[in-house]
Amino acid sequence: MLTTETDIAEGIQDKYFLKFGTATRETVRVFRSPGRINLIGEHTDYNNGFVLPASVDKAVYFVIAPREDDQVILYAADLDQTYAFSLDDLSKPEKSWPHYQIGIVEQIQKKGLKIGGFQAAFGGNVPVGAGLSSSAALECCLLFALNEIYGLNLDRFSIVKMSQKSENEYVGVQCGIMDQFASAFGKEESVIRLDCRSLEYEYFPFPMDDYLIVLCDTMVKHSLASSEYNTRRQECEKGTAILQQYDANVLSLRDATPALVEEHQDEMGDVVYRRCKFITEEIQRVQDACDLLVQGNLPDFGKKMYDTHFGLQDEYEVSCPELDFLVAQTLDDDSVLGARMMGGGFGGCTINLVKKEGVDAFEAKMKQAYLEKYQIDLPCYRVKITDGTEEVALA
Ligand code: GLA
Repeated sequence: MLTTETDIAEGIQDKYFLKFGTATRETVRVFRSPGRINLIGEHTDYNNGFVLPASVDKAVYFVIAPREDDQVILYAADLDQTYAFSLDDLSKPEKSWPHYQIGIVEQIQKKGLKIGGFQAAFGGNVPVGAGLSSSAALECCLLFALNEIYGLNLDRFSIVKMSQKSENEYVGVQCGIMDQFASAFGKEESVIRLDCRSLEYEYFPFPMDDYLIVLCDTMVKHSLASSEYNTRRQECEKGTAILQQYDANVLSLRDATPALVEEHQDEMGDVVYRRCKFITEEIQRVQDACDLLVQGNLPDFGKKMYDTHFGLQDEYEVSCPELDFLVAQTLDDDSVLGARMMGGGFGGCTINLVKKEGVDAFEAKMKQAYLEKYQIDLPCYRVKITDGTEEVALA
């Protein structure tokens, strides 16, 4: 862990002891689960395609100890709020932050596994609603922690799948598997190419000697995000059903090609056609981008990132004016190799691949442009790629 991360974890541990006292000093443990970035491969996960995410040095931490009874007491250290429930009552509270944790307990019970009560303080530095998947980090962190504390014998794949199910079933967002996978399987200085159908994955070293990854946070948290996300899924399913009539092997857009989509453009209608065109091209783009990475050709890798952005903007239509503005600002900047919106869309961050020597000037320019246009002070995060979910040893 980096020094700043240790500081954050220690801060949450201090708050745990303030809240719960020191009686559990012997049994308390600390766990960390990071937020994620995604270099390329957007909205491809729920189409059974490929993604290229990595976990970063912005993480969620749980300081947690088992209890003798069946009570769960959660303390959101950053919000200074507490929520308590009993293991036999998993009803949904109005307050939304406990949904992520209760959903995990529900998944454990649905699997027929047994845990006792627990008390935890949690928090961290993953910006919420910025497209870094703080929710997946929360889910993976708690499940990983309970797995260790109560010896549930779950492997990382099960942790990922149960965390995703918890988000689908309890939180109610029909997300794919990328975020949870990246949080749990991240590896220092590497990106992960994940085949979202087979869950086969491969690490690729990501060279950060000459380049930095900078996230620019629009600060837009769009209310459309989850409803439009679910609509996109349905549009992809419609396209798949049409293509299946012509080729029975097309079970998802992963099995289709841009050429097949082109052939059936008229039947699909304009909207479904554009969605399917983007997804089939994007799945291919991840593969091509990985080849470029292996060749060390980051300039062409960056161009692919731009292609992804324009596809998300014009064909998949999940961007927003603020994201488009930030990407447009980079087009004539020689220090930027690639830029695009990242994650589900409708707000959140752009991801920028920037030459190290140009990064100060880049951030200054972006901040000034955003301030002039939107009167918003643009947060820029320089992220490092770190390991995925783990237990943390604190002094
Ligand atoms: C969100 C979802 C992911 C993925 C991305 C888009 O982050 O949680 O499963 O679909 O959007 O690539």
